[in-house]
Amino acid sequence: MEQTKKESLIKKYFDFYQKKVLPEVEKLATQKKEGYHGLYTHTDAVVFRALDYALESGENPMPVLFAAACHDMARTHDHYDKEHGHRAVPLAQKVIAKFPGKISEKEEFLVCYAIQNHTEGTQTNDYISACLWDADRTRLAWEHLMPKRWLLEMPKNISPGKIKPWGAQTRTEKEFKQFR
Ligand SMILES: [Fe+2]
Ligand SMILES: [Fe+2]
Repeated sequence: MEQTKKESLIKKYFDFYQKKVLPEVEKLATQKKEGYHGLYTHTDAVVFRALDYALESGENPMPVLFAAACHDMARTHDHYDKEHGHRAVPLAQKVIAKFPGKISEKEEFLVCYAIQNHTEGTQTNDYISACLWDADRTRLAWEHLMPKRWLLEMPKNISPGKIKPWGAQTRTEKEFKQFR
């Protein structure tokens, strides 16, 4: 996709997220507003990147927008919590219900699947889970994989082969059927 067209689409969808979807997420979220996994910090960044990945892949960004907007809304703290994806699903369904017709029933199912499994990294072959997973990990990679000091020193100290990219996930049909 042409860069300027993609940028204007990201802006259009991100505006929709901030003006319409975010207020609905705020009403139900137990997630903190600021801080490491905050709604205005972490989630904003993940939504922005997830939209970029969906558009770059030529996919519909709307389901990805809902998945990213709601993925951490059931967090209550910044520490390890494997269940926050599961807990976010009923909250996300309430948010999506406020926007009838924006995504299909099948897309809603895949959004819920992506949210439920983002804490476990279950492999998947659908783009909604892949965009959420990669956007979430890209955000977290800022400090885990590429701290500023490394970026500055990379030519001397790190060979590119040692940095493993987070690839999109692939899910087996068997796992998909189990979930249904
Ligand atoms: Fe999370
Ligand atoms: Fe997250």
